[in-house]
Amino acid sequence: MANVTVIGGQWGDEGKGKIVDWLSSRADVVARFQGGHNAGHTLVVGDQVYKLSLLPSGIVRGTLSVIGNGVVLDPWALQAEVEKLGAQGVSITPETLQIADTCPLILPFHRDLDALREDASGAGKIGTTRRGIGPAYEDKVGRRAIRVCDLAHLDELGPQLDRLCAHHDALRAGFGEPPVDRAALTAELRQIADFVLQFARPVWLTLNDAKARGRRILFEGAQGVLLDVDHGTYPFVTSSNTIAGTAAGGTGLGPSAAGFVLGIVKAYTTRVGSGPFPTELDDAIGQRLGERGHEFGTVTGRKRRCGWFDAVLVRQSCAVSGVTGIALTKLDVLDGLDEIRICIGYRLRGQKMDHFPAHAADQAAVEPVYETVAGWSESTAGARSWAQLPAQAIKYIRRVEELIRTPVALVSTSPEREDTILVRDPFSD
Ligand code: GDP
Ligand code: IMO
Ligand code: MG
Repeated sequence: MANVTVIGGQWGDEGKGKIVDWLSSRADVVARFQGGHNAGHTLVVGDQVYKLSLLPSGIVRGTLSVIGNGVVLDPWALQAEVEKLGAQGVSITPETLQIADTCPLILPFHRDLDALREDASGAGKIGTTRRGIGPAYEDKVGRRAIRVCDLAHLDELGPQLDRLCAHHDALRAGFGEPPVDRAALTAELRQIADFVLQFARPVWLTLNDAKARGRRILFEGAQGVLLDVDHGTYPFVTSSNTIAGTAAGGTGLGPSAAGFVLGIVKAYTTRVGSGPFPTELDDAIGQRLGERGHEFGTVTGRKRRCGWFDAVLVRQSCAVSGVTGIALTKLDVLDGLDEIRICIGYRLRGQKMDHFPAHAADQAAVEPVYETVAGWSESTAGARSWAQLPAQAIKYIRRVEELIRTPVALVSTSPEREDTILVRDPFSD
């Protein structure tokens, strides 16, 4: 298979950025296909730490990076990220970055609406990143969005803006907010247009050319399958499809382009934001996982909730996303635990269940059934070969593979790029 599609197998923050960066040395193109700057992907290369939200992680190595049509693009966030990376020595030019001319834009009032809704929801809030992701996708599906290509036609934007603002003015009035200032918005768009347009391309064409020439395309998913708007813990999800199937539609390639689907899976579980989490730990072990794993959100700095590995959820994620193999990350965070628990099933009001139910009340009510396995006292941190892993750690990995019915292709043992064990090469599989 020439291509690899990387997706998150849990609730995001599984270490996708690290793995995409590692794999991008073998790729010719890296492409994002959904989400926006709600993502936070961390790359550690020597003493440099790169935090990417909107830009594909391949950009750090100078690999051609593409933002596909499935992404919602905040032009000002793009500019800020390009400048931030520039200050870290990563030069971003139209030779290294292409953005689909059909990407819908995230505008300032999308961000406002996201925050207004969250603030009005009290305990029922989703805990979004407040980046305007949901409202921007709503406008895309509602056929009201302003897209990248519109930036080259700002003089003709009037009727489109009227339609979009009429919708938002009504929503804003409901929150006691003034109407959108169209003149100010148009002026802001005029100021940023050329910056965005220098990168704008029909990226479907670039990618289909690359495919025809046998180039290797690496698709970089954001978020995780459990945050997928169809397959996740609805309504506590993001507003895009995060499964591997989106790689094709979100870039303009056919469904066979996905290639090897690599699910990135943390050796335990974390979640940031609200919603059900059957294996969540509110005790000292949960605290320990959070501290050892530095579980704080890359985008919002929020503390991530931590818990045991949930094999039922990951098995379901692998199934709905057609995962070929997984990268098991943060194994080192489990070092030194006497015992490790794995969720192997649920009980729902006394009934056994081997999948996650659809209804939010049932999702909140399931009780995990655990299997306990022995931990290991040795350190796995920084291991770069299978031979460097303690026997119990290998046993844990093998048990995970068995329970999720998917083989391990990579193991990650620290944030550092090279602290990665290759079991099965996704690019030559
Ligand atoms: P992403 O959103 O999936 O790209 O993941 P994030 O970057 O938000 O969160 C993963 C965090 O774990 C980052 O701080 C990474 O540097 C770090 N990380 C990735 N792999 C490993 C690993 O194997 N071990 C440890 N200890 N940290 C890791
Ligand atoms: P990466 O790519 C973890 C979560 C938010 C919230 C829900 C909806 O770094 O793995 P949104 O702003 O998308 O409308 O928020 O989704 N969320 C993430 N959680 N990692 C992410 O991205 C996330 N992107 C969104 O916390 O619960
Ligand atoms: Mg993240």
